[in-house]
Amino acid sequence: MQDVGSLIRNDSVHRSIYTDQHIFDMEMDLIFNKTWVFLAHACEIAEEGDYKTTYIGRHPIIVTRLAGGTVTALINRCRHRGPIVCQHEYGNSKHFRCPYHSWTYDNSGNLIGVPMPQGYGKSFDRTQLGLTRVPRVAEYQGFIFGCMTEFGPTLEEHLGGITKFLDAYVAVSPTGKIDLFEGTQKCGYNGNWKYQLENGVDPYHVGALHLSAVTPEAMEIYRQGRGSVVAMDGHGVTDHTDWGPMPVDASLSGGFNLVIFPNLIVLRSQIRTVRPIAVDRTEIYTNAVRLQNVAEDVNLRRMRDQEFEFGAAGTFFTDDLEIFERTQEGLQSGAVDWVVFARGLDREEMRNGYMTGSMSDETQHRGMYQNWKRMMTSVTSPALAAE
Ligand SMILES: [Fe+2]
Repeated sequence: MQDVGSLIRNDSVHRSIYTDQHIFDMEMDLIFNKTWVFLAHACEIAEEGDYKTTYIGRHPIIVTRLAGGTVTALINRCRHRGPIVCQHEYGNSKHFRCPYHSWTYDNSGNLIGVPMPQGYGKSFDRTQLGLTRVPRVAEYQGFIFGCMTEFGPTLEEHLGGITKFLDAYVAVSPTGKIDLFEGTQKCGYNGNWKYQLENGVDPYHVGALHLSAVTPEAMEIYRQGRGSVVAMDGHGVTDHTDWGPMPVDASLSGGFNLVIFPNLIVLRSQIRTVRPIAVDRTEIYTNAVRLQNVAEDVNLRRMRDQEFEFGAAGTFFTDDLEIFERTQEGLQSGAVDWVVFARGLDREEMRNGYMTGSMSDETQHRGMYQNWKRMMTSVTSPALAAE
């Protein structure tokens, strides 16, 4: 096994970070098991007893609102023989019962029922057999995250400068809070999860891959290179706010794209959750975002944006999904090792404390890969130690 740090150069990354199953295993361990991972929006579990099932890397997760309003996240894995105890995407329940042998847990995870308990001896301690809890759960502007480590940066420290953009994102709503439309659009592609993270903040490709989908006015702005890209605390930002009047519908949020490493993308009308499944398989869940206390036609325009542009059948997203699979195919070739992220290296500059590039540059990608490298080399991986 080569040194993982050597796979990331300032102007390029090695193809194996997209194709090597061992690297993927390390990512699950050193990234998804260590940092804050997006779980749910608060509106998805608004009422006491509401739950949603999701994932932190390979862990199936139940995130649920308890009595009193606090949110907890549990590993969705029966402590008896291991099946997931809840297979529904959403619901409301005070308990979760494993369908295999009916071990039953309350929604804070305590084991409250075992059929025919007399079969277990004195050493059987049900207080030790509750659903495993995700050590930390925290929320920012309605976005709920979980972290598999007990210690480390707080959620706000992890988000860093991104908090300012999340504040602006929800401020478009008259109440200062957003909701999601009911229902999640799911799709998947046969390619590495990081293509979607790169693509979420990649203005350079818009005028090429999406030529047929972009209006002439917007295309002119891309050609002029207005706006900026920012490497922000390990996350990526495309900032269009200095475009002036937006060429897109004013009912849409922000004027920026955010890639919140490692699994959340925030776009003008939508949030996107990235689920890595294997080195060459990824699922993406998209949710259209609603504003509170606005005329319904404003929200319907946002839903049209989901349907026609950024949703699973939208003009933009279908182009992107296709190119992710073509990229995976191209990178199978070991004849060429390096993937180039050199654009803007000679013109990027520190602005407001963050490395900032011109609209079509790859500054934000370089920042995300330096963060990837830091996480992948910060401690010895058990997977590596076993080699
Ligand atoms: Fe795209």
